[in-house]
Amino acid sequence: MAMVEVRNLKKHFPVKRTFIDAMLGKPQLFVKAVDGVSFDIEEGEVLGLVGESGSGKTTTGRLILRLIEPTAGEVRIGGNDIFRMSKEELRRFRRHIQIIFQDPMAALNPYMRIGEAVKHPLEIHGIGSSEKERRKMVYEMLERVNLTPPDEFYRRYPKELSGGQRQRVVIARALITRPKFVVADEAVAMLDVSIRSQLLKLLADLKNEYNLTMLFITHDLATTKYLCDRIAVMYLGKIVEMGSFRHIYENPKHPYTRALISAVPEPDPKKKKKRYIPKGEVPNPINPPKGCRFHPRCDQVMQICSKKEPKLVEVEPGHQVTCFLYEE
Ligand SMILES: Nc1ncnc2c1ncn2[C@@H]1O[C@H](COP(=O)(O)OP(=O)(O)OP(=O)(O)O)[C@@H](O)[C@H]1O
Ligand SMILES: [Mg+2]
Repeated sequence: MAMVEVRNLKKHFPVKRTFIDAMLGKPQLFVKAVDGVSFDIEEGEVLGLVGESGSGKTTTGRLILRLIEPTAGEVRIGGNDIFRMSKEELRRFRRHIQIIFQDPMAALNPYMRIGEAVKHPLEIHGIGSSEKERRKMVYEMLERVNLTPPDEFYRRYPKELSGGQRQRVVIARALITRPKFVVADEAVAMLDVSIRSQLLKLLADLKNEYNLTMLFITHDLATTKYLCDRIAVMYLGKIVEMGSFRHIYENPKHPYTRALISAVPEPDPKKKKKRYIPKGEVPNPINPPKGCRFHPRCDQVMQICSKKEPKLVEVEPGHQVTCFLYEE
């Protein structure tokens, strides 16, 4: 059984209407932010969820942790159906599921010392038998994320830390309860490139050490390199391709995935490659294009693409794509 099972997950946000709009009988419109997403994540596996801004990545992550309620679909974590849990069951279950946000400054209370912030989840969930024991756990965790000496960092405030150090605090706080499953939403996006690779390396080490199961959300395909076992490519609320890291990098099938891959900077200047950026902009998810949602921007568009929705096809074991180029 997979650690995380996501089935036909949907979130349609109602678009705000004015009173006059409603009086005039204008229909209620919905932003189809997530529109039928399914995948599994095995224990100890990191799934990268990539796609352009607005494709529905953050909404998917928030749904899976039930930070927002779904329009439809199912999510099971370690066999637990999280949308069927009562408030109290969910509150107790939260120690097993954690999230790492993009902006560590916003995620941390500016008036709370670092040590208190990292200790907080232990107190909420009643982990550790005494204050002394909890403090020891925090010291160990701070040391583990390279905030040393830990007693000095324990006393500091967020504003006295660099951006990279603050993100280490956020990681320490997320992992202190030893969660089964972690969602990292653009966890390194706001950091300088040099610090970014250090943090990715730290996450990769922690993943191995704690056998973490993770959903790693990123708009930047290049950051999946250090960490992700598999990758799911999202476009306008749907997954268009999914496969192992190598499938996606070495044998991308969907024209959208190919475009994303071609946009990843090549570190070796001798290996020249053609960059191909999809034309136009991401369409409005209130009224997504008929048929394949990518067809207005696709360089291999065929007649059928605007008429029917492509089905998920397995092109090789463990590698799926939704595109008419691969349907019989
Ligand atoms: N609370 C909300 N109410 C209405 N619409 C929303 C809400 N949250 C997100 N959306 C819309 O849902 C769509 C998907 O948003 P989401 O934040 O999930 O995308 P994303 O892939 O995480 O993008 P980014 O890379 O910019 O973080 C967007 O069109 C967004 O405007
Ligand atoms: Mg997002």
